[in-house]
Amino acid sequence: MNWTEKYRPAHLDDVIGNKEAKEKLLKWAREWQVGSPSKKAVILYGKPGVGKTSAAHALARDFGWEIVELNASDDRNRDVIRRVALTGAVSEILGAPEDAMGRKVRRLIILDEADNLYERNGDAGGKGAIIETIKAAKQPIILLANDYYGLTKGRGSELKKLCIPIEFGRVSEREIVSLLEKICRNEGLEYEKEALEAIARRCDGDVRSAINDLQSISYERRITRDALRHLGYRDREAEIFTALRIILKARDMRTAINQARILDESPDNLILWIDENLPAEYTNPTDLMRGYYFLSRADVFLGRTWRRQYYGMWRYAYELMTGGVAAAKRYGRGGFVRYSFPTWLRKMAAGKQERRMKQEMARKIGKKMHCSASKAMEILPLIKRIFMNAKMASLLAVSLELKREEIEYLAEDKEKAEEIYKMAEKIRKMNKQTMLFNF
Ligand SMILES: Nc1ncnc2c1ncn2[C@@H]1O[C@H](COP(=O)(O)OP(=O)(O)OP(=O)(O)O)[C@@H](O)[C@H]1O
Ligand SMILES: [Mg+2]
Repeated sequence: MNWTEKYRPAHLDDVIGNKEAKEKLLKWAREWQVGSPSKKAVILYGKPGVGKTSAAHALARDFGWEIVELNASDDRNRDVIRRVALTGAVSEILGAPEDAMGRKVRRLIILDEADNLYERNGDAGGKGAIIETIKAAKQPIILLANDYYGLTKGRGSELKKLCIPIEFGRVSEREIVSLLEKICRNEGLEYEKEALEAIARRCDGDVRSAINDLQSISYERRITRDALRHLGYRDREAEIFTALRIILKARDMRTAINQARILDESPDNLILWIDENLPAEYTNPTDLMRGYYFLSRADVFLGRTWRRQYYGMWRYAYELMTGGVAAAKRYGRGGFVRYSFPTWLRKMAAGKQERRMKQEMARKIGKKMHCSASKAMEILPLIKRIFMNAKMASLLAVSLELKREEIEYLAEDKEKAEEIYKMAEKIRKMNKQTMLFNF
């Protein structure tokens, strides 16, 4: 079974995110409950997969309302809507039905994909039909749409007066992660939290695609970052390059700032990427100077953020390094520009690798010499001195079982390391043979 169906929220409380929107929706429904709605209809709009349809259905369930669902992109429904509008056959569908005891039951009319009604075949009458429907209805109506602007422009502008607009926005990563965790627990899946975070980050606020992504790697039984590669999760570097390209080529601040928000990279990393690649993109010296001016301002704010531990200032840093830098140029450079990985980050990463290698070596030496790894770390410089003599070095390399990269590090010279390595190999082979004969 499809997990998005399995985990479709039953109650409004289970719909994650969009707290404000849910409150508005509730308020409107309560008004209907007491029979005095300020507007007959609401428009729930926003990007796909954030819970609009779910919220409408959950609301009806919470209030014990019956549902009449009309999907606007379905032709039969289109006819229903039009007939309702044209003939005023209100009671048939849009009036209140009665239950077995003769009590009135509310019916919620859900018009899904309302913005699709007119898009298809250039149906200009569609919007009019919706408007007539709302006017005629004696029951609550929820219009669902992705594109509020499209729905309410032109002939649709009357909808603005007839409906309360309620926007459903992206759901936060934090909330998506905890939903995914819940699903994992329920399905008995082990998971790395980082993997769920990666899914949540990539889905960009779309809960449906997050759940779908989770389900498609669930056969692994363990949700790991590694497993995500099967989904074609692009590696982070490529993602950053793409975003960087948009930011540096942007002609207006907003595009650049939005891109940074979607990328969701920490500002102290992002500034390094921009710093590294700005000269590649900004070839005009004045542009470059102005670009770096904004970058330096961003850096000032970053410093203040850390010093004062006030993360509200991150925003200024972000906006200066993206929007500011983007708007700083007068001459854009067209075409593809090759970007590079920040030198500084590379150095740091290399430094980390070297530290790890030294520690590993110290551990090995400590074992042979019966001392702690940290003690052995102290004598590494001494061993370096010994390594100036290739013969001694090769003997040491054998008894310490040094790897090629470790020899290279101690010898501080590639050619010399190669020589030592070869000698050590010879000794190793000889040792093996003597061991064979000793048998
Ligand atoms: N806010 C949410 N809370 C919990 N689950 C959600 C939420 N949003 C989406 N989902 C999950 O994604 C599925 C699809 O959501 P839904 O149909 O409500 O999205 P939508 O906003 O109506 O999207 P569309 O614009 O494509 O119609 C749901 O069945 C549910 O599993
Ligand atoms: Mg929907």
